[in-house]
Amino acid sequence: MRRLFPVTDQTAAPDPDREWSLAELAAAYAYPDGDGGGPGVWLRANMVASLDGAAQHDGRSQPLSSAADMRIFGILRALADAVVVGAETVRAEGYRPARAREGLAGTRRAAGQGPVPAIAVVSAGLDLDFSLPLFTSPLVPTLILTGAGAPPERIAAAEKAGARVVLAGDGTGVDPARAVQALAGLGHTRLLTEGGPKLLGQFVAAGVLDELCLTVAPMLTAGDAQRIAGGPAMAVPRRFVLASLLEEEGFLFSRYRRDLP
Ligand SMILES: NC(=O)c1ccc[n+]([C@@H]2O[C@H](COP(=O)([O-])OP(=O)(O)OC[C@H]3O[C@@H](n4cnc5c(N)ncnc54)[C@H](OP(=O)(O)O)[C@@H]3O)[C@@H](O)[C@H]2O)c1
Repeated sequence: MRRLFPVTDQTAAPDPDREWSLAELAAAYAYPDGDGGGPGVWLRANMVASLDGAAQHDGRSQPLSSAADMRIFGILRALADAVVVGAETVRAEGYRPARAREGLAGTRRAAGQGPVPAIAVVSAGLDLDFSLPLFTSPLVPTLILTGAGAPPERIAAAEKAGARVVLAGDGTGVDPARAVQALAGLGHTRLLTEGGPKLLGQFVAAGVLDELCLTVAPMLTAGDAQRIAGGPAMAVPRRFVLASLLEEEGFLFSRYRRDLP
């Protein structure tokens, strides 16, 4: 991997395929102030897209990914307090509990974090299989973000399985800004969303997305796949600032963030 931007001595790396250590990757993707305290809650998204903008192939993101993309996926998780994900992605991708990374255990401890981030599933209907390890045996309890009008029997099933249900909306649905605040209220200020596009579009539209880590896969897919963010368009496109750009084997790992004051 090499860094294309900001330009450093790694830009013309003698060995662009050298695998960066966990520590190097963790430094490259550190939250703005390193411990989440500065700008308060910080919501970053991590998504992969093909050159023609597809966020999925055959209903999954894995065909667009690479080994380096998966390493960055793991690092972003390892830096986060909580991973926010839409229920459809949990169902489509067969989400499992987050795994502890031995090489980053000390970093998490020093940052006052538990062994793994909490997975926070956003769902209105709670039509989820609560017998799965994601709910029954995570290292830290899985959270379910839903609205006050969610089916009570599904809330009961989630809680019986060991999940913690957090209300962040007055109707059946979740208000994206309230979801961020609710997580911050639980002490989760370094937030990562892994999509999918329906959920990410709502964070974008609500103006609460601070950063996008976008992997551009050197692939064309055509077809009618979703883009990385869906839903109603914003009135005015929101401008982001390029924070860094890494490259490995033609995959571009970009990091865009909102302008910091
Ligand atoms: N390219 C990438 O990086 C990437 C990343 C993630 C996923 N994906 C792909 O994207 C697809 C899935 O994404 P998706 O956009 O279809 O769905 P999604 O955003 O993962 O999940 C949609 C579901 O989340 C819940 N939800 C969303 N907003 C909500 C709100 N405001 N209040 C309450 N619940 C809410 C609902 O769950 P209920 O139906 O349970 O009520 C809804 O059906 C898959 O093909 C996956 O592989 C790609």
